[in-house]
Amino acid sequence: MLNPRKVAIVGCGFVGSSIAFSLMQKGIYSELVLIDANHAKAEGEALDLSHGLPYTAAMDIYAGDYKDAADCALIIITAGANQKPGETRLDLIGKNVAILKSIIPQITATEFEGILMIVSNPVDVLTYAAWKISGYPAHKVIGSGTVLDTARLKFTLGRHLDVDSRSVHAVIIGEHGDSELAVWSGANVSGIDLNHFCEIRGHFAHAESMQRIYEDVRDSAYQIIERKGATYYGIAMAVARIAECIVKDEQAVLPVSVILGGEYGLSGLALSIPSVVGKNGVEKVLEIPLNAKESEALHSSALQLGNVIDTLHLN
Ligand SMILES: NC(=O)c1ccc[n+]([C@@H]2O[C@H](COP(=O)([O-])OP(=O)(O)OC[C@H]3O[C@@H](n4cnc5c(N)ncnc54)[C@H](O)[C@@H]3O)[C@@H](O)[C@H]2O)c1
Repeated sequence: MLNPRKVAIVGCGFVGSSIAFSLMQKGIYSELVLIDANHAKAEGEALDLSHGLPYTAAMDIYAGDYKDAADCALIIITAGANQKPGETRLDLIGKNVAILKSIIPQITATEFEGILMIVSNPVDVLTYAAWKISGYPAHKVIGSGTVLDTARLKFTLGRHLDVDSRSVHAVIIGEHGDSELAVWSGANVSGIDLNHFCEIRGHFAHAESMQRIYEDVRDSAYQIIERKGATYYGIAMAVARIAECIVKDEQAVLPVSVILGGEYGLSGLALSIPSVVGKNGVEKVLEIPLNAKESEALHSSALQLGNVIDTLHLN
């Protein structure tokens, strides 16, 4: 039987181990299984994390295999190659689809009935591939999507406007990658139209600022990878937030990567779209208002990902 307080992470590299650390801090699970092709690495992470238990909340953390994850409510997949300096997320596709094809059958073989969350890149393409390979219902296969990019947007806007990023309401949608877009038409600071708030703070060059902030957000992974070789803390906190919504059945709106079934006139791919997230995974994909430019950018992002998906021959 499914244990709502049990989670597994497949891939215990930078991202997987940071997610484990982040989930521990939240204290929302009682059992965490760490799985990695390098079992010794998973064992080492489990030990290291467990030594923090006297200072967090009781939980069982151990290195295991797919059988141990069979009754998990959530399996998070971060296994795979990461971007090297100069590489795009789409450059990782061959390696990471092959890894996914080796992992998912081992999960389905256990009759796992929980939710599958994909974090490995390119996350939208891999979310779609995971859905196809697993045969699971669409609402049970989620990608971390642009939850991280949206945090980066809120943070950057918060800095620009000298306001707490939690008061900023703005979202990045589309590909978690180079073709993503900011939905400026709906952006606001606690109900105050964004441009109006900018003016309150003495900023009047709206178009220029928006372009600069969008580019900063879109390219921030490249900036981080150039400096420290990988990104992991931001994504870890974004994934922990999604996991929290599932465990607590929050019905919170997050731009996770979802399998589209006709929303925005799109299907046959996964894209990051604001969706209601709860105990069943994706409870509802939302069709948010977009202006003509945003709608065009979303369709262009979808076209690019659709073309990539076609090359994978998943059907
Ligand atoms: N979605 C996002 O926003 C986001 C953000 C950052 C990184 N990522 C992605 O996360 C992935 C992991 O990045 P990282 O920096 O942790 O890489 P990493 O190299 O540090 O870790 C990858 C881990 O996966 C393991 N692994 C490889 N093949 C496996 C298999 N078949 N089964 C089980 N484990 C396997 C490796 O042993 C390694 O421990 C990359 O694809 C990266 O691009 C996504």
